[in-house]
Amino acid sequence: MIAIRKCLFPAAGYGTRFLPLTKAMPKEMLPVVNKPLIQYGVEEAARAGISDMAFVTGRGKRALEDHFDISHEIESQIAGSGREALLAEIRRLVRECRFSWTRQLAIQGLGHAILTGETLIGGEPFAVLLADDFCVTEDAGVLSQLAAVFAEQQCSIIAVEEVPAHETADYGMIAGEEISSGLFRVSQLVEKPAPEDAPGNLAIIGRYILTPDIFAVLRVTEPGRNNELQLTDALQSQARQGRVLALRFRGRRFDCGSVAGYMAANEYVWKRSRDELKTQPACI
Ligand code: G1P
Repeated sequence: MIAIRKCLFPAAGYGTRFLPLTKAMPKEMLPVVNKPLIQYGVEEAARAGISDMAFVTGRGKRALEDHFDISHEIESQIAGSGREALLAEIRRLVRECRFSWTRQLAIQGLGHAILTGETLIGGEPFAVLLADDFCVTEDAGVLSQLAAVFAEQQCSIIAVEEVPAHETADYGMIAGEEISSGLFRVSQLVEKPAPEDAPGNLAIIGRYILTPDIFAVLRVTEPGRNNELQLTDALQSQARQGRVLALRFRGRRFDCGSVAGYMAANEYVWKRSRDELKTQPACI
């Protein structure tokens, strides 16, 4: 059985909804309480058994590389102090995972970002995580939930959740047949449709497991919504062969690409970590 070893993190976007904050700072470094969004994403991937973290970045994103590195100056500054514990998680990630980086030269859609990452992934199934979809779960993280389905089904799997009709234009929307509780065989995917064109009320959220033939499909996919290369359109091609499943994941998602969703995530995590025992970090 093929296990998922690699996760691709598309992280080249500008985060214009957060300007002026994102003028010189990558949106992936926005903190939820005291940890950047991208670190939550890498932790979720690591908890799903993934060892190789592959980033598609762009200009102005060097803080991401610095974050997943050792800062010798800071390490020696806090050595022996109570603050050492604050770096424990990131230190463990840096030690236990492998990180690789490539750049997307122009912003041309999620499909283009994935294709740019091919060089880091090669010919094996892989996960994709969009860090601004911030997910909290009670038990297994969303990627772990997808990986469990992949272990049985060995095809592309996307995470979905129900959204109200007036939000369909913000998401890739899918339709499919429910083959077991919360698991759908996808028949149709449409990128950001108007409510009247949406095939249903299930929206794709930023967690995917993709089979590597997606790269060949992307290469022949025409630009779609916004004249950009859309992953959703490439998945439609796999779905025609019955090779895409969608999982209504267990957990809660915050859209940290929007200021309102981001503020709600901070409030939620802050409250939850204060409610729990101080020594017990929130399970995210
Ligand atoms: C991307 C995908 C979209 C998906 C969304 C989830 O859009 O293209 O299908 O629903 O992520 O966050 P973006 O939000 O990057 O425009």
